[in-house]
Amino acid sequence: MAHVKVFDTTLRDGEQSAGVNLNRLEKIEIAKQLERLGVDIMEAGFPASSQGDFEAVKEIADTVRGCSVTGLARANKKDIDMAWEALKGGAEPRLHIFLATSPVHMTHKLKKTPEEVVETAVEAVSYAKEKFPYVQWSAEDACRTDLDFLVHIVEKVIDAGATVINLPDTVGYTTPDEYGKLFDYVKNNVPNIHKAALSAHCHDDLGMAVSNSLAAIEHGATQIEGTINGIGERAGNAALEEIAVALQIRQDRFDFQTNLVLKEIKRTSDLVSKLTGMMVPGNKAVVGRNAFAHESGIHQDGVLKESTTYEIITPAMVGIDSNRMVLGKHSGRHAFKQKAESFGFELTEEKLKEAFTSFKNLTGKKKEVTDDDVFAILTDTQTAY
Ligand code: KIV
Ligand code: ZN
Repeated sequence: MAHVKVFDTTLRDGEQSAGVNLNRLEKIEIAKQLERLGVDIMEAGFPASSQGDFEAVKEIADTVRGCSVTGLARANKKDIDMAWEALKGGAEPRLHIFLATSPVHMTHKLKKTPEEVVETAVEAVSYAKEKFPYVQWSAEDACRTDLDFLVHIVEKVIDAGATVINLPDTVGYTTPDEYGKLFDYVKNNVPNIHKAALSAHCHDDLGMAVSNSLAAIEHGATQIEGTINGIGERAGNAALEEIAVALQIRQDRFDFQTNLVLKEIKRTSDLVSKLTGMMVPGNKAVVGRNAFAHESGIHQDGVLKESTTYEIITPAMVGIDSNRMVLGKHSGRHAFKQKAESFGFELTEEKLKEAFTSFKNLTGKKKEVTDDDVFAILTDTQTAY
């Protein structure tokens, strides 16, 4: 089974989520948990963006030893010098330089011709290589870039020393099929591509970030980038926990695994949610509150007989204690009886029927019946004559 590297950017692209502002101590706490989670590369921030970010990146690089720490830089000497000062104490100093390559970005944002963009990228990568052993170069907005221009600039930056080429779907525009073809095109047309690794970086504007990342893996990406809980600019980045669990559960389909310690997923998700203030939606895959909750009688009955009827992931795999049988208006007698037994009640069939009727009446009045409600119903029924 081949290994795909996980490049976590929770502390950089994730922190770019609207309304998120992590302080130095919070960043360090998340960095330590990401290390426990087993990410291969951690993007700790953008050192030239602020003094606070510089200090946090430096402290993380100086502390974390279990993975490579990187930082973002624009394609200029000042950003690269600042990133070196922040990252040089790291276990495996690595720089991430980005420069836009799509017509809309080059014309309106950079105000440069394509050849000027090539020159700037090559100069930046060559300069960075004087200091950093590993230099990743990202073709920002790769999915809206002219293919022949992309091939040309990738060849040049590899010649200049880039060790990783990232093809970001910066605006979440692509589809799995197209993104796979983009990787094939670059692999088949850049003559020196064997000298660099290919990386995928997807945004979720059209809700396809995880699917696009999986497609990239199937078409030659050996590194995937994303964030915990999928936080990030606008609609966010690819959710790393979803990619890792998809690769694990669908081993029949994918020949790749990550090095993530899956049992650390829930703890990491909770920490990121708490410190960023970004709530995880209840129905979010893998880590949402309802991801392992069953409410309907048919589902509850199935899961109680054999969990794989309605659960393809075991809660324990991702560090969650157990599934939840939520008692609501769709629930059946089987789950109700199980709940009563878990509370230590041993009711006669008749009393159980009576309690179940009271419970069903309550579901007509409350959206979710809590354990305390059920306990009260059972106690009342048991003590009633
Ligand atoms: O989405 C993007 O293009 C980025 C780059 C900086 C890699 O985050
Ligand atoms: Zn991004």
